[in-house]
Amino acid sequence: MSRIVKQLVFGVVLGVFVISHQDSSGKMRAEIVRSEPQAKKILGNQPAKPSAKEHPGKAAYTKYCLVCHQANGSGVPGMFPPVGKGSWAGKDPKELVLIITKGLNGKIEVNGEVYKSAMPAQSQLTDQEIADVLTYIRSDFGNNFGAVSVDLVKKVRSGK
Ligand code: HEC
Repeated sequence: MSRIVKQLVFGVVLGVFVISHQDSSGKMRAEIVRSEPQAKKILGNQPAKPSAKEHPGKAAYTKYCLVCHQANGSGVPGMFPPVGKGSWAGKDPKELVLIITKGLNGKIEVNGEVYKSAMPAQSQLTDQEIADVLTYIRSDFGNNFGAVSVDLVKKVRSGK
Protein backbone atom coordinates (compact mmCIF):
# COMPACT_ATOMS: atom_id res chain seq x y z
CA MET A 1 0.00 0.00 0.00
CA SER A 2 1.24 3.46 -0.70
CA ARG A 3 1.68 5.88 2.18
CA ILE A 4 -1.28 7.95 1.03
CA VAL A 5 -3.62 4.94 1.10
CA LYS A 6 -2.33 3.90 4.53
CA GLN A 7 -2.99 7.40 5.88
CA LEU A 8 -6.45 7.39 4.34
CA VAL A 9 -7.33 4.05 5.91
CA PHE A 10 -6.02 5.23 9.27
CA GLY A 11 -8.09 8.40 8.97
CA VAL A 12 -11.27 6.49 8.23
CA VAL A 13 -10.70 4.05 11.08
CA LEU A 14 -10.05 6.92 13.47
CA GLY A 15 -13.17 8.71 12.28
CA VAL A 16 -15.35 5.65 12.79
CA PHE A 17 -13.85 5.11 16.23
CA VAL A 18 -14.56 8.69 17.29
CA ILE A 19 -18.11 8.65 15.93
CA SER A 20 -18.95 5.29 17.53
CA HIS A 21 -17.59 6.48 20.85
CA GLN A 22 -19.61 9.65 20.79
CA ASP A 23 -22.62 7.54 20.08
CA SER A 24 -22.15 5.13 22.91
CA SER A 25 -21.38 7.80 25.51
CA GLY A 26 -24.46 9.71 24.39
CA LYS A 27 -26.56 6.62 24.88
CA MET A 28 -25.01 5.96 28.28
CA ARG A 29 -25.88 9.41 29.48
CA ALA A 30 -29.48 8.93 28.40
CA GLU A 31 -29.64 5.70 30.35
CA ILE A 32 -28.34 7.28 33.52
CA VAL A 33 -30.93 10.06 33.29
CA ARG A 34 -33.68 7.53 32.68
CA SER A 35 -32.67 5.40 35.65
CA GLU A 36 -32.72 8.27 38.18
CA PRO A 37 -36.45 8.26 38.89
CA GLN A 38 -36.26 4.51 39.16
CA ALA A 39 -33.50 4.74 41.75
CA LYS A 40 -35.61 7.23 43.69
CA LYS A 41 -38.53 4.81 43.59
CA ILE A 42 -36.37 2.04 45.02
CA LEU A 43 -34.63 4.12 47.67
CA GLY A 44 -37.59 6.33 48.46
CA ASN A 45 -37.24 10.07 48.77
CA GLN A 46 -35.21 9.83 51.94
CA PRO A 47 -34.04 13.11 53.40
CA ALA A 48 -30.30 13.45 53.88
CA LYS A 49 -29.20 12.00 57.21
CA PRO A 50 -29.27 14.74 59.81
CA SER A 51 -25.80 15.45 61.16
CA ALA A 52 -25.13 14.92 64.84
CA LYS A 53 -27.24 17.42 66.73
CA GLU A 54 -25.34 20.62 67.31
CA HIS A 55 -25.78 22.78 70.37
CA PRO A 56 -27.92 25.81 69.41
CA GLY A 57 -25.33 28.12 70.97
CA LYS A 58 -22.55 26.88 68.75
CA ALA A 59 -23.71 28.92 65.76
CA ALA A 60 -23.75 32.13 67.80
CA TYR A 61 -20.38 31.29 69.32
CA THR A 62 -18.89 30.74 65.87
CA LYS A 63 -20.34 33.99 64.62
CA TYR A 64 -19.70 36.32 67.57
CA CYS A 65 -17.05 34.88 69.87
CA LEU A 66 -14.76 32.51 68.03
CA VAL A 67 -12.70 35.25 66.41
CA CYS A 68 -11.29 36.17 69.84
CA HIS A 69 -11.92 33.21 72.13
CA GLN A 70 -10.98 30.61 69.46
CA ALA A 71 -12.77 27.53 68.20
CA ASN A 72 -11.71 25.39 71.17
CA GLY A 73 -12.33 28.13 73.75
CA SER A 74 -8.63 28.43 74.54
CA GLY A 75 -8.44 32.17 73.88
CA VAL A 76 -5.04 33.68 73.09
CA PRO A 77 -2.70 34.00 76.09
CA GLY A 78 -2.18 37.63 77.08
CA MET A 79 -4.82 38.88 74.65
CA PHE A 80 -8.09 37.00 74.84
CA PRO A 81 -8.89 34.95 77.94
CA PRO A 82 -10.11 31.37 77.57
CA VAL A 83 -13.77 30.47 78.08
CA GLY A 84 -12.99 26.81 78.76
CA LYS A 85 -12.11 25.06 81.98
CA GLY A 86 -11.00 27.38 84.78
CA SER A 87 -12.43 30.45 83.04
CA TRP A 88 -15.25 32.70 84.19
CA ALA A 89 -17.80 30.52 82.38
CA GLY A 90 -18.81 29.06 85.74
CA LYS A 91 -19.48 32.47 87.32
CA ASP A 92 -22.86 33.88 88.24
CA PRO A 93 -24.91 33.81 85.01
CA LYS A 94 -26.04 37.42 85.66
CA GLU A 95 -22.44 38.55 85.49
CA LEU A 96 -21.94 36.63 82.26
CA VAL A 97 -24.98 38.24 80.65
CA LEU A 98 -23.57 41.66 81.60
CA ILE A 99 -20.21 40.79 80.02
CA ILE A 100 -22.01 40.09 76.74
CA THR A 101 -24.38 43.06 76.82
CA LYS A 102 -22.00 45.68 78.29
CA GLY A 103 -18.59 44.31 77.36
CA LEU A 104 -15.69 44.04 79.76
CA ASN A 105 -12.52 45.97 80.25
CA GLY A 106 -9.94 46.41 82.90
CA LYS A 107 -7.42 44.12 84.49
CA ILE A 108 -8.76 40.64 85.08
CA GLU A 109 -7.22 37.31 85.96
CA VAL A 110 -8.41 34.15 84.29
CA ASN A 111 -6.84 30.78 84.99
CA GLY A 112 -3.76 32.38 86.55
CA GLU A 113 -3.13 34.68 83.60
CA VAL A 114 -3.61 38.45 83.71
CA TYR A 115 -5.50 40.23 80.93
CA LYS A 116 -5.60 43.98 80.51
CA SER A 117 -7.70 44.08 77.46
CA ALA A 118 -11.19 45.03 76.38
CA MET A 119 -14.11 43.02 75.13
CA PRO A 120 -16.59 45.11 73.13
CA ALA A 121 -20.26 44.67 74.07
CA GLN A 122 -21.97 42.07 71.92
CA SER A 123 -25.36 43.76 72.25
CA GLN A 124 -26.39 42.82 68.71
CA LEU A 125 -27.21 39.35 70.00
CA THR A 126 -30.84 38.53 70.72
CA ASP A 127 -31.86 37.40 74.20
CA GLN A 128 -32.17 33.87 72.85
CA GLU A 129 -28.70 33.96 71.30
CA ILE A 130 -27.16 35.19 74.55
CA ALA A 131 -28.88 32.44 76.52
CA ASP A 132 -27.78 29.85 73.96
CA VAL A 133 -24.19 31.01 73.64
CA LEU A 134 -23.69 31.22 77.41
CA THR A 135 -25.30 27.82 77.91
CA TYR A 136 -22.97 26.53 75.20
CA ILE A 137 -19.73 27.80 76.75
CA ARG A 138 -20.91 26.59 80.18
CA SER A 139 -21.43 23.08 78.89
CA ASP A 140 -18.59 22.70 76.40
CA PHE A 141 -14.81 23.25 76.36
CA GLY A 142 -14.48 21.07 79.47
CA ASN A 143 -17.10 23.07 81.43
CA ASN A 144 -20.08 21.53 83.15
CA PHE A 145 -22.28 24.33 84.46
CA GLY A 146 -26.02 24.87 84.31
CA ALA A 147 -27.93 26.47 81.44
CA VAL A 148 -28.66 30.19 81.23
CA SER A 149 -32.33 30.92 80.57
CA VAL A 150 -33.80 33.49 78.20
CA ASP A 151 -35.81 34.84 81.14
CA LEU A 152 -32.65 35.64 83.03
CA VAL A 153 -31.16 37.39 79.99
CA LYS A 154 -34.35 39.46 79.64
CA LYS A 155 -34.25 40.40 83.34
CA VAL A 156 -30.60 41.45 83.28
CA ARG A 157 -31.05 43.35 80.05
CA SER A 158 -33.98 45.33 81.38
CA GLY A 159 -31.92 46.22 84.46
CA LYS A 160 -34.12 44.32 86.94
C1 HEC B 1 -13.14 41.31 69.99
C2 HEC B 1 -12.79 40.16 70.79
C3 HEC B 1 -13.85 39.49 71.61
C4 HEC B 1 -15.07 39.01 71.21
C5 HEC B 1 -15.69 39.07 69.83
C6 HEC B 1 -15.66 38.39 72.38
N1 HEC B 1 -14.83 38.52 73.45
FE1 HEC B 1 -15.15 37.80 75.30
N2 HEC B 1 -13.49 38.74 75.97
C7 HEC B 1 -12.57 39.40 75.17
C8 HEC B 1 -11.56 40.02 76.01
C9 HEC B 1 -10.38 40.82 75.52
C10 HEC B 1 -11.89 39.70 77.34
C11 HEC B 1 -11.15 40.17 78.59
C12 HEC B 1 -11.43 41.63 78.85
C13 HEC B 1 -10.53 42.24 79.90
O1 HEC B 1 -9.31 42.03 79.85
O2 HEC B 1 -11.04 42.97 80.79
C14 HEC B 1 -13.10 38.87 77.27
C15 HEC B 1 -13.74 38.30 78.36
C16 HEC B 1 -14.75 37.38 78.30
C17 HEC B 1 -15.27 36.61 79.42
C18 HEC B 1 -14.82 36.67 80.88
C19 HEC B 1 -13.43 36.10 81.07
C20 HEC B 1 -13.31 34.68 80.64
O3 HEC B 1 -12.68 34.47 79.58
O4 HEC B 1 -13.88 33.78 81.27
C21 HEC B 1 -16.26 35.81 78.92
C22 HEC B 1 -17.08 34.80 79.69
C23 HEC B 1 -16.38 36.11 77.52
N3 HEC B 1 -15.46 37.05 77.17
C24 HEC B 1 -17.31 35.52 76.66
C25 HEC B 1 -17.53 35.92 75.35
C26 HEC B 1 -18.61 35.44 74.53
C27 HEC B 1 -19.62 34.40 74.94
C28 HEC B 1 -18.50 36.09 73.34
C29 HEC B 1 -19.42 35.99 72.14
C30 HEC B 1 -20.80 36.33 72.34
C31 HEC B 1 -17.35 36.96 73.40
N4 HEC B 1 -16.79 36.84 74.66
C32 HEC B 1 -16.90 37.77 72.37
C33 HEC B 1 -12.63 39.52 73.80
C34 HEC B 1 -13.72 39.18 73.02
